[in-house]
Amino acid sequence: MSRIAIITGASSGIGAEFSRQLFSSHDELWLIGRREEKLNQLASELRSRSEVRVIVKILDLSDPHVIENLASLVESESGLETLVNNAGYAEDGQFNIVDWQKHHDLMTVHVDATLRLSHSALKVMTAKGRGSIINVSSVASFVPTPNSTLYGASKSFIRSFSEALAIENKDNEIRIQALCPGFTITDFHEKLGLNPDKFYKKRGMIRSWTSEYVVAESLKDLNKGKVVSVPGWNYKLMVMLLRRLPITLLLWMLGRGDATHRYSE
Ligand SMILES: NC(=O)c1ccc[n+]([C@@H]2O[C@H](COP(=O)([O-])OP(=O)(O)OC[C@H]3O[C@@H](n4cnc5c(N)ncnc54)[C@H](OP(=O)(O)O)[C@@H]3O)[C@@H](O)[C@H]2O)c1
Repeated sequence: MSRIAIITGASSGIGAEFSRQLFSSHDELWLIGRREEKLNQLASELRSRSEVRVIVKILDLSDPHVIENLASLVESESGLETLVNNAGYAEDGQFNIVDWQKHHDLMTVHVDATLRLSHSALKVMTAKGRGSIINVSSVASFVPTPNSTLYGASKSFIRSFSEALAIENKDNEIRIQALCPGFTITDFHEKLGLNPDKFYKKRGMIRSWTSEYVVAESLKDLNKGKVVSVPGWNYKLMVMLLRRLPITLLLWMLGRGDATHRYSE
């Protein structure tokens, strides 16, 4: 039986890299996204490197009908080994200023697609008794993210959901991971209008990592059975602090000290 890996948001960045690093351990890859040219380019690259079957699916995961159709397909694939719920992006702007439709689309891509596809995948994996689901969260899941309000909120949801699933599946061979990258060099920040040459730092606490490194760390952690994967020493340290520090101190560190009175008794 074919071993199938399904990767959402495979057209660039972390998702494209998951496709590159998973293809040698699978017989069939489904690459999902909206940018047809990029997906076809990646598919050709992978096909030229091995016999792996690569299926490109041009899908917009902000459409609930598209998610529903994809979920039905996933459920019928008994060879499903790995699902990577990676598609995602951020919106810039205060919650009440950003259009409601934009909020709705982001929540559909981050939350609905992740939940629905995980639900279908788990039916297949439970019947087989094994499989892996990687849900891409973020270091931002540990802090409030004002002006990208639903980004941090949805990534917290994804992390909490994945941690609960991992506990539900603790006694079987189904591995669940919440991948929590910090700044990673992809198309993500350019889409937000940031200049990659200036934005990405090579040193210090907010240094950025490559998607090659982030995905390699995620897969290493998956093999070790680690539920929350935080690639990079700097972000591991940051998350350790974020989990222990009082919110008022965190706000000062984030340059939001003027909001601490909102947390006082
Ligand atoms: N880069 C970072 O610093 C960072 C840090 C923490 C977490 N993350 C998370 O990592 C994941 C991947 O992001 P990235 O950094 O690799 O950025 P990226 O290069 O911009 O990739 C984002 C992927 O999501 C897909 N996507 C977005 N909206 C979609 C939609 N409506 N339907 C289908 N696919 C959609 C994009 O595909 P199309 O445009 O082709 O549709 C693209 O393949 C995201 O969930 C992001 O939140 C990134």
